[in-house]
Amino acid sequence: MTGDQVRSTFLGYFERNGHKIVHSSPLLPANDPTLLFTNAGMNQFKDLFLGIEKRDYTRAASSQKCIRAGGKHNDLDEVGKTARHHTFFEMLGNFSFGDYFKEDAIKYAWDLLVNEFKLDPERLWFSVFEGDEEVGPDDEARELWIKVGARPERVLGFGRKDNFWQMGDTGPCGPCSEIHYYMGDDPSDPEKNSPHWVNGPGDTKMEIWNLVFMKYNRTQEPDGTFKLTPLPAPSVDTGMGLERMTAVMQHVKTNYDTDLIKPIVEFAASLGTQASPPATPVPPA
Ligand code: SER
Repeated sequence: MTGDQVRSTFLGYFERNGHKIVHSSPLLPANDPTLLFTNAGMNQFKDLFLGIEKRDYTRAASSQKCIRAGGKHNDLDEVGKTARHHTFFEMLGNFSFGDYFKEDAIKYAWDLLVNEFKLDPERLWFSVFEGDEEVGPDDEARELWIKVGARPERVLGFGRKDNFWQMGDTGPCGPCSEIHYYMGDDPSDPEKNSPHWVNGPGDTKMEIWNLVFMKYNRTQEPDGTFKLTPLPAPSVDTGMGLERMTAVMQHVKTNYDTDLIKPIVEFAASLGTQASPPATPVPPA
């Protein structure tokens, strides 16, 4: 499957399920002084989550061009160290603005991965928010993953760093649930395909999709403290890395080996091997 087919499979699936397909917004956000670059598919829908804008649809899907090279989501320091970071990428996402919530988001994710993309469930791992002093544990997401078909030992709890998503210091946010894919050769190898590697070092496991259960708006008070208030309606914001999913579908070990990036690398490399033009002779003085 080509990268283009991965994109069209994702968007086609959500279009069939009642989502409006929306174009990527520009990399420079139009009306948001809290962001330098667009860092997620949900940016262009921020006011819909906050309930201050209404459109004639309550479900959308997009393939959003993103840059993560600064601010709250900064991949710059990971480039060259991992197989999956490159600061510019496309994020495939489905969104619900007060329409469906956790149960349908999880059902769609399982159905698309297992029944459409035909991923082996033995390679899939799921993380859920384990809770902290501000927001309780997301036991519901854990149960929903098990209900759609995940084995209970495949659903792992993590803290705020991995499983609570916010676009910046302020704005819509909520607990999230990530789907990780085992990239090794043999999923029956218990050493390698083990929970240890989920959110662990290296590229043994790769996060391919993040489902955010948007429930709160984080605002800053005049005294500088931050406060969470409930959104007008629970909503859904998901993000799948197009290049990561393409690496999975093409059975390659790095995003750089996919048909989305490899031709660019090869072209750049070919420029370096071209002979330099002959030097212009300097006329005698
Ligand atoms: N906004 C979430 C993320 O960027 C899901 O799309 O991970």
